[in-house]
Amino acid sequence: MSERPSGIVVCINNRFTASRPSCALGGSEAIADALEQGLLERGLPLTVERLHCLGECAKGPNLRLTPGGRFFHHTKLADVPAILDEIENILKGG
Ligand code: FES
Repeated sequence: MSERPSGIVVCINNRFTASRPSCALGGSEAIADALEQGLLERGLPLTVERLHCLGECAKGPNLRLTPGGRFFHHTKLADVPAILDEIENILKGG
């Protein structure tokens, strides 16, 4: 069973260089905003924290459930509803 999450950390690092990947270049700031909005709309008691690098830059955009939850890699804005569904499921004990 997954640990009950209390938050989501989203990497919003932007390196402004094409030679090194960074999550903001993949749209992570919009993903963080959409997660925040979706959590609010669904009444889910998680907070969104924006961080500068989760150490998985080549797999971004990256986010992670906290504490100690799973990573989501190569995240797209369109993935947000499924991520929220998964969080809801975990909170229901699924
Ligand atoms: S830039 Fe996002 S994990 Fe490093």
